[in-house]
Amino acid sequence: MNASDHPATLLAPQEVSLDVLREKYAKGEETGIADVRRRVARALAALEPEHQRAEREAQFLWAQEQGFVPAGRINSAAGLGLQATLINCFVQPVGDSISGMDGDLPGIYTALAEAAETMRRGGGVGYDFSAIRPMGSKVRGTRSRASGPVSYMEVFDASCRTVESAGARRGAQMGVLRIDHPDIERFIAAKDEGGLTNFNISVGVTDDFMEAVEADELFHLVHQAEPGEEDMATACRLDDGRWSYRQVRARDLWDKIIASTYDHAEPGVLFVDRMNLENNLWYAEDLHATNPCGEQPLPAYGCCDLGSVNLTAFVLDPFGANPGFDFERMCEVAAVAVRMLDLVLDATEWPLPQQAAESQAKRRVGLGFLGLGSALVMLGLRYDSEEGRAMAARIAETLRDAAYATSVQLAREKGPFPLFDAEQYLDGEFTARLPEWLREAIRLYGIRNSHLLSIAPTGTISLAFADNASNGIEPPYAWTYQRKKRMADGTMRSYAVEDHAWRLYRQMGHATDRLPPQFVTALEMRAIDHLRMVQAVQPFIDTAISKTVNVPEDYPFEDFRDLYSQAWHAGLKGLATYRPNTVLGSVLSTQAAA
Ligand code: CDP
Repeated sequence: MNASDHPATLLAPQEVSLDVLREKYAKGEETGIADVRRRVARALAALEPEHQRAEREAQFLWAQEQGFVPAGRINSAAGLGLQATLINCFVQPVGDSISGMDGDLPGIYTALAEAAETMRRGGGVGYDFSAIRPMGSKVRGTRSRASGPVSYMEVFDASCRTVESAGARRGAQMGVLRIDHPDIERFIAAKDEGGLTNFNISVGVTDDFMEAVEADELFHLVHQAEPGEEDMATACRLDDGRWSYRQVRARDLWDKIIASTYDHAEPGVLFVDRMNLENNLWYAEDLHATNPCGEQPLPAYGCCDLGSVNLTAFVLDPFGANPGFDFERMCEVAAVAVRMLDLVLDATEWPLPQQAAESQAKRRVGLGFLGLGSALVMLGLRYDSEEGRAMAARIAETLRDAAYATSVQLAREKGPFPLFDAEQYLDGEFTARLPEWLREAIRLYGIRNSHLLSIAPTGTISLAFADNASNGIEPPYAWTYQRKKRMADGTMRSYAVEDHAWRLYRQMGHATDRLPPQFVTALEMRAIDHLRMVQAVQPFIDTAISKTVNVPEDYPFEDFRDLYSQAWHAGLKGLATYRPNTVLGSVLSTQAAA
């Protein structure tokens, strides 16, 4: 079937899609999707050798028409000659001195200035605040007491609120603290009273902590800095020179995290050892934090450009007697998408020189998908079924192979990423699972990009470029709903929004009062089925997946805690859950109201 014969093309655009497109992506004289796509295609093709440019531009346009959606920043700024970055995701380091440098790390206010620069240019930033000494510990130079990471996070929070982000977007931040930091309890409670509204927060949980939880053991809270007098009674010096401030029962600490998340959906949990174990660059970097929505574990000054294939575009005979999925066309589109994302790394402005150096050495890109939930509905598969998960896994595996094969091809053409080392790269946990033909190709030719895959929330691009196909890996949230959007003059407007699959079903003449069983929404399925979908897809994704596991309000606390231990045992890189709660104003919910 030809794209133009596809029933989806019969759908008139939704008003909300047009308004989001005009507000965020269409610039100058541009009025529609086609204009934005043309600009992106031209801007990226301009970096290819001159004799290839016209052909590449046509190819880049084709890939977008067929279902590739570059991430928001690319659509909003490519080819406009702005200082804005084309990169959605950054992680930046924070050291323990007030200003200047703390060894290799920028001091707190140096890091704050770096963060402001990245946000001003449109990037979301994640930080690990664990280097900052605990509240009450000694500050020798001034004989005073430290105020601790949470109080400095409030400064970052205020700065984020003040600095306007490029691309008509509020800045987004992720704050991480390691589970063994002496201020961890303060951190867990930091959003209880509605504070830190410009942060998502996550605890960096280690395997030895989880083992201590399972064995019901005590656990040391440690830091390099010398404790103040109040902590001295419980403190001791460890063999490695660090101070243990006190010991806590691991289970009590774990329960505090789970209880806070049960009540306020925060903090999230990052399984940092798994992130590092599965990292293709395990030999060259340490990961302590992720970008704001969690799909990119990144090292200090790490960055990643994102893009997604719209899975609904590859469904053949949707709702038909014999629906199918066009794997071949998805691979063709993915191949062009990887080439485009690789070019984005050269087309973008970098807020900081450290980010430019980082990205040139590693060339991380993150291709993922959007519309999984809507596509499964169109295929007649329930999201919460074995068949639904098998299809998702097959799609992810196919996407992985297409992306890696293309990156090998790009290495032959343009050279591998500078930190590539065949032996060490192929020794990684993730690359060990690649099929032998790909491993052999990587050994022979190298690979252009250290990482290739990532499943982003696609909060805005699903709406503007994919007729509100479901977000990223998520199931559809509802078939029809009201969405609030802030208008240019500051007033709020409510839009009627419809899920893409549901619209198509109605357009094809079906009644929508009694929907067939594959129409299942996020809130209608069990929490464990949300988790199982991540488990099915994660083995094929070399970075991470942004996913919220929805649980009903009356979900038992014990079961909720179990979800987290299951996620750890299943080898997931993290978990974010949502149970309806009263605290409003998190970054995610504002984003949902974009
Ligand atoms: O839809 P779009 O491509 O614009 O973005 P997304 O997939 O919803 O979010 C991808 C990433 O963009 C997030 O993980 C953040 O790192 C970043 N982001 C941000 O910086 N500011 C926001 N308000 C939302 C997302």
